[in-house]
Amino acid sequence: MNGKNENNNKPTSFFPVPRFTPLMLVLGVESSCDETGVALYDSARGLLAHALYSQIAMHNEYGGVVPELASRDHIRRVLPLTRQVLAESGCTLTDLDGIAYTQGPGLAGALLVGAGMARALAFALDIPAVGVHHLEGHMLSPLISDTPPEFPFVALLVSGGHTQLMRVSGVGCYTLLGETLDDAAGEAFDKTAQLLGLGYPGGPALSKLAATGDAGHFSLPRPMLNSGDFDFSFSGLKTAVLTLVRRQGLEQAADIAAAFQAAAVEVLVSKSLAACAHSGVTRLVVAGGVGANTRLRERLTREAAARGIVVFYPKLEFCTDNGAMIAFAGAQRLAHASSADLTFAVKPRWDLATLDAV
Ligand code: KG4
Ligand code: ZN
Repeated sequence: MNGKNENNNKPTSFFPVPRFTPLMLVLGVESSCDETGVALYDSARGLLAHALYSQIAMHNEYGGVVPELASRDHIRRVLPLTRQVLAESGCTLTDLDGIAYTQGPGLAGALLVGAGMARALAFALDIPAVGVHHLEGHMLSPLISDTPPEFPFVALLVSGGHTQLMRVSGVGCYTLLGETLDDAAGEAFDKTAQLLGLGYPGGPALSKLAATGDAGHFSLPRPMLNSGDFDFSFSGLKTAVLTLVRRQGLEQAADIAAAFQAAAVEVLVSKSLAACAHSGVTRLVVAGGVGANTRLRERLTREAAARGIVVFYPKLEFCTDNGAMIAFAGAQRLAHASSADLTFAVKPRWDLATLDAV
């Protein structure tokens, strides 16, 4: 299992996939939170098309995601986006070999929209459907590349809801090395951004503001930096920012943003490299929304290189939620799926380490 195209008679794909994947065209549907993502992935030709509708503007006025509004908007977007990717790739519904959808974790109502649509369409077309773990989608997203990492690798998953370090030895072979004990990294960015008067989601806005500040002006704690394990804690850092804002006001918001980002990034970089050393692997994959953070990318790439570790990132557009990662992960699993069972259930809470290997 090494991601190489071992069949010399076939042209090398732009997006090489593990060799056990049968040739198939897969529609992927993501609807776990505040983005509707739809994509078409062809295991021979790679990603054919992907489309995304972000609900950020709608939720912004509430300062966070409103689950019921999210579900209703997914209903409005999912079919037009599906028509769009089919039209862009010159495919029709009858070309599809399977449909993948996000089964969890996420908002129950939002998940049900994608799951219901995918299952119904698969039944109508008499093709298999498969429920994909959202974090597996994120974690495998760097494989949608012309230079995918080989297994095994360590994955740093940094999204709005999760912060985990995993050892990945194959699709479905995930060992949890450590995780956050309280807030997720993205959540800490979002909450800190809120304290600084920035909008939702706060990560991109905070990172933009931090670029104009002096990271050394204020000193913030690096929680659990020397805890000797691979766990994280970000709620104390957020509280330290709150104390600082109460004391200083928002006049030096850029310096506070820079100090927060520097502290969060230092802990993420240090624990990720320690996890690689512990696992004896020289490949590190970064996935999830916070993986789009420029300072994290710069620091990690530089410090990893000094230790002989290569870091793989998804393309920027695939760091945050998208349909391409679900279509790709689904293509890896669809060989084992069946269309005979018409029942389905979403899993708002779902432990990544419990997935079956394929
Ligand atoms: O993976 P994702 O799109 O959704 C979840 O599965 O949660 O991640 C969203 C998170 C949000 O918390 C957002 O603020 C954060 O990723 N994020 C960033 C950046 N871009 C998105 N955090 C820091 N810097 C960024 N550039
Ligand atoms: Zn996500």
